[in-house]
Amino acid sequence: MKIGVIGAGTMGIGIAQVAAQNNNQVVLIDTNQEVLNKAQKGLENILSKLVEKQKISEFQKVETLNNISFTSDYSELNEASLVIEAIIENLTVKHTVFSQIESVVSNDCIIASNTSSLSIASIGSVLKNANRVVGIHFFNPAPLMALVEIIPSVQTSSEVLQKSKAIIDSWGKKAVIVKDTPGFIVNRVARPFYGEALRIYEEGIADFATIDWAMTEFGGFKMGPFTLMDYIGNDINYTVTETVFEAFYYDPRFKPSFTQKRHKEAGYYGRKSGKGYYDYSEDISQPIPNKDRNIGRYIFERILVMLINEAFDALYMNVASKEDIDIAMQFGVNYPKGLLVWAEELGLDVVLQKLNSLFDLFGEDRYRPNPLLKRLVSIKSTSVTKAEMETF
Ligand SMILES: NC(=O)c1ccc[n+]([C@@H]2O[C@H](COP(=O)([O-])OP(=O)(O)OC[C@H]3O[C@@H](n4cnc5c(N)ncnc54)[C@H](O)[C@@H]3O)[C@@H](O)[C@H]2O)c1
Repeated sequence: MKIGVIGAGTMGIGIAQVAAQNNNQVVLIDTNQEVLNKAQKGLENILSKLVEKQKISEFQKVETLNNISFTSDYSELNEASLVIEAIIENLTVKHTVFSQIESVVSNDCIIASNTSSLSIASIGSVLKNANRVVGIHFFNPAPLMALVEIIPSVQTSSEVLQKSKAIIDSWGKKAVIVKDTPGFIVNRVARPFYGEALRIYEEGIADFATIDWAMTEFGGFKMGPFTLMDYIGNDINYTVTETVFEAFYYDPRFKPSFTQKRHKEAGYYGRKSGKGYYDYSEDISQPIPNKDRNIGRYIFERILVMLINEAFDALYMNVASKEDIDIAMQFGVNYPKGLLVWAEELGLDVVLQKLNSLFDLFGEDRYRPNPLLKRLVSIKSTSVTKAEMETF
């Protein structure tokens, strides 16, 4: 199959690698020749390292590189079955590129966007045949992260959706189907991991190190929220939160934090700038968490129930299926468990009770428990069968 990838930046090069390693002919397009040269060299290095680590053979390396043509020439897309756009996050530029793609590809070629924050409907609106548009959202780094969110918009035909999912499945990825709504699954449901941690810090309950300790110690998360925000970059993480907040018409659940905004304004981006919530200079000893187990458990439970509430909201609003919401959080952000399964393990009544006590204390809409969670708890209290519970 011939696959087009537009944009040879961070995501484009990773997507091209995945497609090429799955025996597709890949046309990787970038307007900038220097970027193309760098992408080619970068990919050669990555594949050589994989050969050194005996993850792939020398033959597979050569074959993968031979499968990719690095070019600025859009006409090379002519026989592509699928083109995935991964250029800068700007609607006007994406519109120009989408029209350019449509002018050279065949009528049945699927045209996809890897956008993180723009609606697929708005990107596809520029196409003459908008039924062929779909979102195919990879996670960074694309060759390592198993999750891919597939986003049909109001224009997408069911055939295009099915074909896109079949292609991504055949690349060994975990494809989940998501409604065209802000943040899709992962960037929506994960917001409280950062937002509630920042809020707990701002309330003076604990410092960064203690909050991080609580989430790894009690929750089994690989990284605590502040370590993770420093890793992602506070500039990027703050912008995602702000974008989701605005896209949800300023729903207070997604309200960004002043602490993170100030860190961003100060250039305290995290690892990449040498300083974020933590100082990454050499010879600096890191702060020691206060390992008070009562505080730790309170922090973990408060963040977890907020995450669960968000997962319930995505389910309630039919953003995705129960299974896909859990798969997305496990494979898109490496959560130790799916949030909806986690909720059942804790007991839905326990989750609701904790949310209710936060809502009572603060009186803020941010803490309102999701109606589906409330309904399920009330059904359960009138003791319906387990099978009925599992149909939600
Ligand atoms: N970086 C991430 O973690 C991440 C994760 C998921 C999705 N995304 C999304 O993927 C897309 C790309 O992000 P990125 O981080 O790879 O960006 P990037 O800046 O690393 O790369 C973008 C590339 O597009 C090229 N480009 C710009 N205009 C072009 C055009 N008209 N034609 C061809 N090439 C053009 C640029 O030269 C650049 O190389 C964005 O929509 C972003 O929201 C990013």
